[in-house]
Order: sequence, then C-alpha cells, then structure tokens
Amino acid sequence: MMIKAQVASLRLFLLFCTTLALPAADGSFAPYAAIRPILQAQPNGLPAVLRNAGEAQWLAWARQEDKAIRARLAQGDLDTLVNFLLYGVSFTKQPRILMEHLTEASKAGVLRARVDDLVSGLRNPGDNERLLFLQQLLRTQGIDPVAGDPAQTGRFLLNNLLRVVEERRALAERANNAQRVHNAPLDRSSLFQDRGLSLDTSIIPAFSIEQTLRDLKSRGLLREGQVTRVAVIGPGLDFIDKNEDSAFDYYPPQTLQPFALYDSLLRLGLAKAGSLSLSIFDISPRVIGHVQRARERAAKNIGYVLQLPRDIAASWPPDLVAYWRSLGEQIGAAVAPIAPPAIFHDLETRAVRVRPEVVLACQPLDLNIVLERRTSPRADSSDSGFDLIIGTNIFVYYDAFRQALALANAGAMLKPGGFLLSNDRLPDSDGSSMRLAGVTVVPFEAPGVSVRQAVGWYRK
Ligand SMILES: C[S@@+](CC[C@H](N)C(=O)[O-])C[C@H]1O[C@@H](n2cnc3c(N)ncnc32)[C@H](O)[C@@H]1O
Repeated sequence: MMIKAQVASLRLFLLFCTTLALPAADGSFAPYAAIRPILQAQPNGLPAVLRNAGEAQWLAWARQEDKAIRARLAQGDLDTLVNFLLYGVSFTKQPRILMEHLTEASKAGVLRARVDDLVSGLRNPGDNERLLFLQQLLRTQGIDPVAGDPAQTGRFLLNNLLRVVEERRALAERANNAQRVHNAPLDRSSLFQDRGLSLDTSIIPAFSIEQTLRDLKSRGLLREGQVTRVAVIGPGLDFIDKNEDSAFDYYPPQTLQPFALYDSLLRLGLAKAGSLSLSIFDISPRVIGHVQRARERAAKNIGYVLQLPRDIAASWPPDLVAYWRSLGEQIGAAVAPIAPPAIFHDLETRAVRVRPEVVLACQPLDLNIVLERRTSPRADSSDSGFDLIIGTNIFVYYDAFRQALALANAGAMLKPGGFLLSNDRLPDSDGSSMRLAGVTVVPFEAPGVSVRQAVGWYRK
C-alpha cells in the first residue's frame, strides 16, 4: 500500500516537473480524419507506406517522420559550421573567404590558416558562444576537438567544406532548371527538400512581410486593430549567415522575425501594444531555448537587445534602408550598438533594446508544422485561432506532400478568414481549407541588383 502511494506521489511529482519543463501548450500529430483528404488527393506523391493507410499507419509514419525531420537539424548545423569557417571573425584574424574565391584562398594559404585557427578555437573556446556550440556539435559527430587529434578535426572541417561546395553547385543547377520551368516569383518549389535544416535568418524576410502587411491593409483585407493573435513558424537564429554581406559573428546569436513582426503590426496600426500575443513554433531546441532564456530575462525586467548592422557596400533599395532605420522603434528604444571589428569597415550599425513586455508576449512552442498542430490550451470556445501566421524560408525544405500537410496544419490553427503569409508556393490540394488568395511582389531594385521577393497570402 505504502509503495503504491509512494509510486503515485512520485508520478505526480514527475508530472509536475514535466509540466514545468514544457512550454505552456504543445503540438500533437494532426488527426487522421483531417489528413485523409490529403492522402487521397495525392496517391502518387505519397510515401509507399501511406498508400491506402489507415489511422494506425498514419500515426506510425508521423512518429518516424518527426524524428527524420528533426535529424536534419544537425546537418544544417554542419552547414553553419562551414559558413563560420569561411566568414567568422571571432576566432581568427584571417580575411573572410567568399565561396567563389575558394581556390585562390586555398592557394594563398588563407583557407589552411582559417582551418588551423578554427581547430585551435574549438580546442580553447573560452566564452565564445558559437565555438562552444560547435564544439558540442563536433562531439555528436564523433570528433573530440579538445582531447582528439587536431589533424582529425581539421580534416572534418575540410570534408564538410567540400560537401557544402558540392551541394551548392547542385543546388544552383536545380534552381536554374526550376527557373526555366516556373519563373514566377513565388515558385521555388522544394529546392531544399534534401538539405539540412538551417536556422539562418536576416532582415530581408522581415522587410518583405512588412511590405505584405501594408499591402493587405491598403486592400482592406486587414483592418486597424484587428490582429491580436499571431504565430511565427520557424523564426530561425542568426548565428552566422550563409550570405557574406549578412554573415556576422561579432554579436551574440539573435532571433529577429518575431520582434520585427510585432514592430510592423504596431507601426501599421494592425495591432495594439499590450493586446498582441505571439506564438513561436519551431523544432529547433536552440531557437526554443533562446526565446525561453530571453523570456526569463524579461521576467526580471531585462529587455532583448537586437543588433542591426547594415553593409553600406551592399545595394539596398531605399525602402529597405528606411525599414532598417525604423526597425524596432515601436517595440523598444535605441541603445549603443556593439562596435564591429575593424575588418567590417563598411558597416553602419544600430541596436534596439526590446521592451520586456514585448518579449513576454512571445511564447515559444516545440511544434513540427509538417506533422503537428497546436492543441488549444483553453477548453472553452474563446480560442478561435490565429489572425495571422508567418512562415518564411521554411516550406522550401519540404516536398509537395509535406508542404500540403504543413498548409493543412497551419490552416487548422487559423481563424476563418485568417492568413498564412509565406514566400513559398504551397500546393492547393482538394478538400483543403486554405487557398492562395493573392501575392505581394516586393520589388528589390537597387543599382546592380534586381531581385523580386514575393509573399503569398494563403487564406482560410
Ligand atoms: C532557414 S530558417 C528561416 C528563418 C526565418 N523564418 C527567415 O525567413 O529568416 C528555418 C527555420 O524553420 C525551422 N523549421 C524547419 N522545419 C520546421 C518544421 N517542420 N516545423 C517547425 N519549424 C521548422 C528551423 O528550425 C528554422 O528556425
């Protein structure tokens, strides 16, 4: 009897601990009934085990697929390791290496010197947050950068560099072929479907989303003060970008998109300060942990500092420059930015301290958008869903079937009439509650640059 009572109280205790450790709400696999129409609509694009699948097969596949998707994060981290090797300045005094100058850099010994410096940095990381993370990453790959052979660490770095070079070449070819077929701004198809999942993020998607919200407002599709509940799927973490002109490691890793979205919604009058809640969905423990820690600091009244560098040598269009100048004004106050190292002589910098209450309005949840949807934290009917969900540079990592699942999951979490905004074309499947209602094309014209960014509005 005593043992039974002890076990019961231990269970209660464990339950209590788990509740404390978990975010406030959680995702659960999409129910079979909701997924069946997608399975029936795509018999050819389905994994073999899902043809004629019932509920049990669906759930078994979802569990396995969830693991497979999350396993892609480590590969994305190894890609980041390569970006760090080429562009990082926090572990070396060597010049940065552009991918297209790799051969020259190798001949000149710069690559070798960077590899050696990174190997020593990984051996003695000090308090360099990035080196400490990469040290752990290498251990998960069977390399011990501290006690192991430095030559083995160096080889590991170079092998990953070779892999990334080869992958980029193949991707460029795939992108060219896709462009020949589609050539519409939203059509990147599933370009990255077999790539590691990267956490890269920059100001550009935040700018495109603000332009899209402005467009939706001017068309009367979003009204003043209408937005109270929003979600960002996959906000990412700026560790060091894959594009040289936005690849920085002189400030702590940061997330931008949730704060930029909050800022845009206030600037455009679509939401009111204090009555906006923002959910952050991601599968990366690094993203979730980063936001959790920011919330813990905010609970002690410490704001979140965003570093906003701008490479003046990069040709930004005037609208983007104006956006960069005002970014964060609605959610915080300007503070002195961290001074960039001398190597970045063309950087103009700003920094903003985001108010603690804005940080606390951002709630991170571990949720795999391909397979899961949020279970409502409220039992009553007051939780009718999100007004708006943002998902940029995420669906491109999945094939059409998985994109259709993600669209259905996002749709299930939206209010009727709500929007999912994404810079990817998602498949319109029969029986889906979501339709592409329009596209905002954001011209990106500046001397020497002409790129179009496009954001689709998927409406429930
Ligand atoms: C390339 S980053 C994009 C960051 C940001 N949205 C942007 O556009 O700059 C992709 C983000 O999506 C997250 N992600 C990838 N697959 C996901 C999934 N199935 N469910 C939730 N988050 C996912 C990654 O962890 C990462 O944070």
